[in-house]
Amino acid sequence: MPKPIYILNGPNLNLLGLRQPDIYGRETLEDVAQDCAALAEELGLTIRFLQSNHEGQLVDWIHEARGNGAGIIINPAAYTHTSVAILDALNAFDGPVLEVHISNVHKREAFRHHSYVSLRAEGVIAGFGTEGYRLALRRMKTLVAK
Ligand code: DQA
Repeated sequence: MPKPIYILNGPNLNLLGLRQPDIYGRETLEDVAQDCAALAEELGLTIRFLQSNHEGQLVDWIHEARGNGAGIIINPAAYTHTSVAILDALNAFDGPVLEVHISNVHKREAFRHHSYVSLRAEGVIAGFGTEGYRLALRRMKTLVAK
């Protein structure tokens, strides 16, 4: 069995589709998970798609990915801008890391312009809506093939 790509989602993303749809759109996280699963199959990848509102749980999943995951795609949501713990956990992971934001964080409040996770990520996708997850998955396919 090939190792899965972990697709991790941070706080409030469980409310995707309901929360600020003008910013984040009307698709739910379940829709995103299904689209990613379909694309992963097409690309010959397997995924483990997870969401938590808790920083420590995200850290634990990043630890789980050590040895068990081929790569990590992460939308850390608000923890992007605050979490040294998530950065440290990602720095302890050896494979490729891609950071995804549904909205264009650089067009928003100044506090969203800084990302701890970007210090570790091979690439960042922001402002492509939920399509960003699928673009990241395509890029991940290239990175894990290297
Ligand atoms: C987000 C952007 C973050 O600033 C915000 O806190 C989120 C979602 C995005 O996907 O656009 O919760 O990561």
